Amino acid sequence: MKPRPTRHLLVPAFATLISCSAAFAAPGKSDALFPIPENVRHILDQRCVMCHGEVHNGKTEIREDLNLSNDEAIKETLSEAGRLKEVIAKKQMPQKAKLSFRLRKDPKLKERLDAIKADYDKNGERDVLMAWMKDITATETPDKKDKEKKAE
Ligand code: HEC
Repeated sequence: MKPRPTRHLLVPAFATLISCSAAFAAPGKSDALFPIPENVRHILDQRCVMCHGEVHNGKTEIREDLNLSNDEAIKETLSEAGRLKEVIAKKQMPQKAKLSFRLRKDPKLKERLDAIKADYDKNGERDVLMAWMKDITATETPDKKDKEKKAE
């Protein structure tokens, strides 16, 4: 007597597996970033909070609704860790960051932003951030403004 074929049982099992994995692929959270190492916190304070959480003339500057000034703020305002990795990997932050209109009027802040970009590059801070996020998958957001595609 031949054994009963069991293959047909695997089909519904596989289908269940697929639908479960779809549920697990829920939007990425920022939890994977914590705890934030001391050297990374320092970089965020020096290079990022100027536009993401610092108070200027009594008003908190929060570009793109993102506040990086402390753990709680990051958990609340960062859509997902992968987006942070994306902007660092693509050198969008802080290299391409621009001051808001109200801050642009202050020449001291323009100078500070230039120094932020120069020091970030000079000190290899991008490498520190990338190492911190090594296990995180960057998101892929199409950039409308990205006309200057590098020819390779
Ligand atoms: C001079 C101001 C400025 C500085 C400094 C700056 N940012 Fe930004 N950031 C912006 C602006 C403006 C945007 C939105 C527009 C854009 O993407 O260019 C943005 C967008 C972002 C986003 C995308 C948010 C989203 O939901 O899409 C992330 C993540 C981010 N910044 C992280 C950083 C990090 C990390 C640093 C420091 C290494 C940094 N930023 C430094 C101004 C700044």
